[in-house]
Amino acid sequence: MTRYDAVEAASYRVAREISLSGLSSWRDAVAPYFAPGSTVLDLGAGTGLFVRAFASWFPSVSVVAVEPSESMRSASGLPMLAGSDTAIPLADASVDVVWISTVVHHFRDLPAAGAELRRVLRPGGVVVLRSLFRERHQGVGLFRFFPEAARALASFPTVDEVASGLGFAVARLEAVPQVTAESLAEKASNVRWEADTLLRSLSAEEFEAGRARLVEAAAVETGPVVDHLDLLVLEPAGAV
Ligand SMILES: C[S@@+](CC[C@H](N)C(=O)[O-])C[C@H]1O[C@@H](n2cnc3c(N)ncnc32)[C@H](O)[C@@H]1O
Repeated sequence: MTRYDAVEAASYRVAREISLSGLSSWRDAVAPYFAPGSTVLDLGAGTGLFVRAFASWFPSVSVVAVEPSESMRSASGLPMLAGSDTAIPLADASVDVVWISTVVHHFRDLPAAGAELRRVLRPGGVVVLRSLFRERHQGVGLFRFFPEAARALASFPTVDEVASGLGFAVARLEAVPQVTAESLAEKASNVRWEADTLLRSLSAEEFEAGRARLVEAAAVETGPVVDHLDLLVLEPAGAV
């Protein structure tokens, strides 16, 4: 079971997908790990945002997408394998990089997931995460309009919990900017309660009050909406 049904999959595309130009800092951040000819597993690939981005940025890299939700796989319109963090349908030592974007807070058994990641990684392989961590949420502008969404941070792991839970060591950690929307007006028209773990923690009243604050700010503030998520690169413990 996953949290993403058909309605949420459609909303996800509207509310959460970002333009490739808005993600250009992410292209630069991950480029050192995406060597020509390498194989990347996009674990929890969702609607395929990064499958499409990687195909465009790194044409010589092979991307294999694994996603547990049938609705997300279908909404992506891309070939994707059914699977999850603890059941990856790939051979031992078959990938160079595992990419995990805004998924790790859904993992329920980090040690089991870590064993599965080590199984599919080739020697020298790395896990590259794009995520929000419980103790590092200052770069996310959503909380300005939806302050009650901070409650949901309690269910997000810290960097240390992810690394030690998976049994990996931290090789790199830094905040990376992204242009989430061209304007607050665009953000206001695209925001969806059901498309985001943080927003789903809000009551209908809290969500509507936050959306009203967002619409009000959008009427006077112009310019792009820039958020920061963290890049976390992990290597099997002992390899660093
Ligand atoms: C917020 S979306 C992120 C999608 C995509 N990675 C992106 O950045 O656009 C979270 C995705 O994780 C998937 N997911 C949930 N639990 C998972 C698990 N245990 N293993 C792998 N993927 C999972 C969901 O089905 C959903 O597609």
